[in-house]
Amino acid sequence: MSEQVWSEVDSYVERQIVGEDAALAAARQASAEAGLPPIALTPALGKLLYLLARVHGARRILELGTLGGYSTIWLARALPADGELVSLELNPQYAELAGANVERAGVGSLIKIEVGPALDSLRAMTAKQGGPFDFVFIDADKQSTPAYFELVLELVRPGSVIVTDNVVRDGKLIDPDSGDAGALGMRRFHELLAASTRVTATTVQTVGAKGYDGFTLALVER
Ligand code: DHB
Ligand code: MG
Repeated sequence: MSEQVWSEVDSYVERQIVGEDAALAAARQASAEAGLPPIALTPALGKLLYLLARVHGARRILELGTLGGYSTIWLARALPADGELVSLELNPQYAELAGANVERAGVGSLIKIEVGPALDSLRAMTAKQGGPFDFVFIDADKQSTPAYFELVLELVRPGSVIVTDNVVRDGKLIDPDSGDAGALGMRRFHELLAASTRVTATTVQTVGAKGYDGFTLALVER
């Protein structure tokens, strides 16, 4: 099986059932035109996040790593009219573009984009008891994922769901010789999950238009 087949199947699924609309396509295109790295979720994974948040009945969502707001739009669409999504982004230019993208998608009133290092924003939210969030999507710089996860645990409740993107990275997750900081972060993240008495988790490998990767789904038990 080649990456070309994975991409073609993603395209097929997208055409048949995902139904990416004009606002999502525009967010993707505006991000490309502004020179953002092409690392947004595939439409199929965006819709998976949307479905998970809907299945969960999420009313408050926290996202780490806004980028151009593509996943933000998918997640916001799962919210009720009085729902709320807080998205953390380091890069002010990305945040500004994401703000325009979510406005064009008609979900801007549900979304607050916080600019700055996510570690700082998470600590500030914890200090002012900004939780709990029902659903968290961790998709920022990969080496900080273990630290993000530990801080996110202060902002959730029993029953909350935490989804983490890019945990497999071409199998580097289990490569002992990989010096890749992101891969090391994801290994440490799995060690935290293994040691935690607060979450029940699994990791699912994925292939598609963005290659070979995977995500982790964790349920907060206590
Ligand atoms: C990268 C980041 C992502 O969130 C992703 O989904 C794919 C790649 C990256 O930084 O390379
Ligand atoms: Mg990602």
